[in-house]
Amino acid sequence: MKFFVDTANLDEIREANDMGVLDGVTTNPSLMKKASEKAGVKLDFHDHIGRIAELVQGDVSAEVTAVDFDGIMSEARSLAPIAPNVVVKVPLILDGIKAIKALKEEGIRVNCTLCFSPTQALIAAKAGAAYISPFLGRVDDISSDGMKLLEEIVTIYGNYDLDTEVLAASIRHPMHVVEAAMMGAHVATMPLGVIKKLIMHPLTDTGLRRFLADWEVYQTG
Ligand code: E4P
Repeated sequence: MKFFVDTANLDEIREANDMGVLDGVTTNPSLMKKASEKAGVKLDFHDHIGRIAELVQGDVSAEVTAVDFDGIMSEARSLAPIAPNVVVKVPLILDGIKAIKALKEEGIRVNCTLCFSPTQALIAAKAGAAYISPFLGRVDDISSDGMKLLEEIVTIYGNYDLDTEVLAASIRHPMHVVEAAMMGAHVATMPLGVIKKLIMHPLTDTGLRRFLADWEVYQTG
């Protein structure tokens, strides 16, 4: 399973990258706003995506904000050349689906975002999306089952050997990652805090404390 960090904050991306297990980055307009607020200046979107793409080797998703076909195509054509590892994020709407197909024909890879149903995921794959991003946490937020959605998508894609990678998004906690991995999702994108939690276990901490204390007694005794 690939791990992407879901942030536009360069410090967080560096920290995740330093762990040596980072495979990519996802950003969105809200994360750009948050990164700008943290930086205290309005970050230039294209420059900032370029910086992120230099920091990591894997794919970096940069989202369009147009919602009509021509606008999506034009924004995608200006984002894709920033770096070879930039993937354009396109929303799962009718004009977005049309754009995914046209962009694929131009060799531009798309992460189809804001997916909330298996039919949406099937259509995005048919259009040629490189990634589909079902938003698990946001489905859970409305008292529905994000994991069921993920399972349906993984099963449908498996039934037809579809090439689109399933990118489990809107991940809120480690169990989302465990369940997504059990289902065979190709990628999980998550905040840095969730990546860090994947490492933690209280028995590791108490076990380590005991080993170090015993080692001290052994050395001095
Ligand atoms: C994914 O690409 C999205 O940026 C992200 O996972 C959305 O997560 P949220 O629902 O926590 O905002």
